[in-house]
Formats: sequence, structure tokens, C-alpha cells
Amino acid sequence: MPKASDVVKSAKSSSKATSKLPLPPFVKSKPVVGNLIEFYRDRLTFLNRAMAEHGEIFAIRLGPRKVVVLLNPDDLNFVFMQNDLTLSVGQAYQFVATMFSPEYLYMADYDEYIEQRKVLLPAFQGAKLGNYLGSMLRELKDWMHVLGDKGEFDVVDELSKLALRIAARAFIGEDFRKALHDKFIPLFTDLSRGADPIFPANWPLPHLIRCRAARAELGRLVSSVFQKRRHEGGEYHDFIQYLLEARYHGDQHLPEEIMINMVLGIVWGGYETTTGTMSWALIHLLQNPSFLQKVVAEIDTVLATEPMTELDTWRGLEHLQYAFWETERLEPVSDILLRYNVKGYEIGGYHVPAGWYTVISPSITQRLPRLYSHPNAYDPLRHAPGREEQASHRFSQLAFGGGLHKCPGMNFAHTEMKVVMGMLLHEYDLVLIDRQPDKLHSIGIQRPGACRVRYQRRTTGGLNAQKTSSQTPASLCPVHPS
Ligand code: HEM
Repeated sequence: MPKASDVVKSAKSSSKATSKLPLPPFVKSKPVVGNLIEFYRDRLTFLNRAMAEHGEIFAIRLGPRKVVVLLNPDDLNFVFMQNDLTLSVGQAYQFVATMFSPEYLYMADYDEYIEQRKVLLPAFQGAKLGNYLGSMLRELKDWMHVLGDKGEFDVVDELSKLALRIAARAFIGEDFRKALHDKFIPLFTDLSRGADPIFPANWPLPHLIRCRAARAELGRLVSSVFQKRRHEGGEYHDFIQYLLEARYHGDQHLPEEIMINMVLGIVWGGYETTTGTMSWALIHLLQNPSFLQKVVAEIDTVLATEPMTELDTWRGLEHLQYAFWETERLEPVSDILLRYNVKGYEIGGYHVPAGWYTVISPSITQRLPRLYSHPNAYDPLRHAPGREEQASHRFSQLAFGGGLHKCPGMNFAHTEMKVVMGMLLHEYDLVLIDRQPDKLHSIGIQRPGACRVRYQRRTTGGLNAQKTSSQTPASLCPVHPS
């Protein structure tokens, strides 16, 4: 078996149809279906078993598709340095074709993709990020008002609705959110169900038909937001205005169809991922009371003195950040990253042909014992100064991907997740009713199964403790006092 040190040196793309190097070792498989059934049933167990047998590079068969699995972090340098002309994201994620037009972001030609990515990146950086904080706080205020003083909720159900409301308000705007109330939630749910890697996008299956109908309706709704804004003008600092003013390919306006795709793509890309991560993070914290205590103490101290409307306040919640890093390590919601090999390449002493797929598994790489001590344990303080295990390798943290396609929404996601978790833990005492929720092995974004929590408004420490007799907790929201 090739050694890890051979890998980077030998990694190179090659358009040659033949190579002197052997193919990676294949995992034993069945005729026709290959390893499809075990992969879809529980891919982590399957990939871990294959790694134990073959090492960190091996090949599997998913039906007719041949796939190389790369688990060594050294190999990821090669993968993340390639662009779509060698390893294509668009051709790998064809299953989002029901949801978006072929000219959207990574579905588009490479040059068009680069231009769109240049537009998207600044929308989530620096001061622009601060513009979304108001939407987050506003939704939190409304949500906690509905939660009341005590009760029960299912973690994923509740946080997914909250995350979708935040994304809709942040990216489609206040007017859209107010006009539709929660009517967009079933539309987005139908849209998301169309991300189906098994059946072709144009098959007349009920979930694909519903996805196409939802896409058409959402497209009309978002288009009307753009039209209203163009017609009425006014001073806005939101994502809609940002896209209207953006230029690409020199000084061209973005075509409306691209803007609609971007809005829907960002809402979709942003809400399922944050839902899964926040849900696991909350569950992990409630399962680990001693670390939870540290997190809550820090939240109470910071929020007692710092304004919620400042990004720096949320950035200051270091223990909460360690908690998110640890959850992203143990339960990355994108547990598989996929590329289509437009060209073949050589890696680790093997030849990987064009026409194959390349799979990276953050779940497995992020649990390698040479990167993290006791890798299966929940230990958020491994990320704190003095230990900083996440710095052991450039690709020891993969939850947001890497290279050209690295998630542009990472800072937005961390801000949102800190605001939600920070406010929730500041305001309520929570206990898990279902102490060990199932881990669902579905295709797509990973999330926990049913998991209820019981909550009760805190009598000490939270907003309750800080309010004066004339204030309600809701009126303490500094952005939108009632
Ligand atoms: C915890 C939350 C999130 C996680 C774990 C996450 C994870 C990822 C990962 C792993 C990728 C790269 C996929 C690949 O290389 O195959 C990605 C790409 C992307 N993410 Fe996120 N994401 C999160 C939140 C968000 C948010 C909030 C937004 C929008 C505001 C967003 C928008 C996108 C977009 C547009 C891409 C495609 C980028 C490209 O291809 O150039 N994500 N995300």
C-alpha cells in the first residue's frame, strides 16, 4: 500500500487514457448494484469498514458509477487545488437540476461560475455580514415570544422553521417575510425534496413534480420582489439590493433569472445546513452539562455588557465557537463531498481515470486519530488555545469544504448559529427528553432524528434577570423594541 508521504508528490492530473499505475483497490461488491445498497443504508459504517480493509484510498461501485474515495487529508490538497475543468462540482451535483437553472453558480460554465462566485463572496464578508444581524434578532424575538415561558419542542422541526424564516428575511427581505408569513415554508420544503441523487430530474415522480411547481412559484414570488424594488426604489442594505447593484463580466447587470437562482440557492444552501448543525450542537451541549455550564456562563457575562446588535459581541462567545467546531467535526452535515473526474489523475501511487467520481468524507477524515486525540469523544476544549487540534493539518476541518468551492456562507452560518444558540441558552433552561436521538442516514444534508427538549424560562442569568419591571424579554431586543 502506498505511504501517505508518496501522495502529494505523486498527485497530478492527467488526461492520458492509460497510465502505468494500477487502479485503486476495489471494495468487494455485488453485480449491477455494486456497493449501492450498503452505501445508501449507512455509508459511514460502510466507508469505515472499507478503510479498515484497504487504507485511505479505495474504489467503490455505485451502480454503474465508479468512485474513488480519498480519506487521507494530504490527498485533499490535490482535490481542492483543482478547478471544475478537472474535477467538476456541477457534473457531480446534477441532482440539484430540478431546483435551479443550468446557468446557476456551479451548474454553469466555468467562466460564468467564476463571475457569479465573485459576486457572491463579498455579500457575506465584513460589514455586509452585520446587515443580516437585524433579521436574525428579529426572528429570534418573534420565535421566543411564541415559545412563551415553558413547553416542549422537537429540535429539528423547530430549528428548521426558525432557520428558514431567518434565511427568508435575510436574503429575500422584510416585505417578503411579512407578506407571506410562513406560507413559504411548505414551498421551500417541496423545493428541497427535489434534490434527489437517484432519479433523473425530469422523471414524472410526485416529489419531483412538487419540486418543479414550488420552484416556479418561488421564482414568481422572488421576481415580484425584484420588480417592486426596481419600481419603488428606496434605500436598502439587504441582499436583494446588493444583487440589483452588483455587476459582473465587466459592467453587466446580473440577469434576473440568475438573481432569482442566487436568492433561492442561498436560502436553500443556508437553511438545511444550519438546521442540522444547530440541532446537533444543541443536543451535544445538553448531553454534556459541565461544558454547557461554561458556555452559559460566558453567554450571560458577554450579553450582560455587550450590545447584541454588534457582530463583535457574538464573535466574543469563544466557548460557543468551540462547541460549533466540535459538532461540525463529529457531525458534519455535508458528510460526503462529490466531484466528477473530467480528467484522470494519479494519486498515492494509483491512477484514477476520467469518468469516475471522487468522494471526500469529512465525517471520516475529521475522526482520524492522527489529527485528533480520542477522535470519537465530544471534547470542545480541544479547539481552545494551547491545544488547537484543528490546526494539526490544513484539511483537518472540512465541514465547510475547501478550495474554490469552499462554502461562502461560513461566517453567516457561524453568526446565525451563535445568535440562535446564544439567545436560546441565555433565555431558557433546557433538558433533553430523548437523550440519545437517532442519527439519520439519509441522502443529502445530515440531521438528527426526532429529539424533544423541555424548556423553561430562566429565573436567573437570562434576559428575565436583567429586565426591569416595565420591560418584557421581547422588548429587550435592541433592534426592534416593541
Ligand atoms: C453550518 C452551515 C453550513 C455548512 C456546514 C455548509 C457546508 C458547505 C460545504 C461543505 C460546501 C462545499 C460543497 C463541496 O465542495 O462540494 C458548501 C458550499 C456552499 N454553501 Fe454552504 N454550508 C453552510 C451554510 C451555508 C450558508 C448559510 C450559505 C448561504 C448564506 C451557504 C451557501 C453555500 C453555497 C452558495 C455553496 C456553493 C459554493 C460554490 O460552489 O462556489 N452555505 N457549503
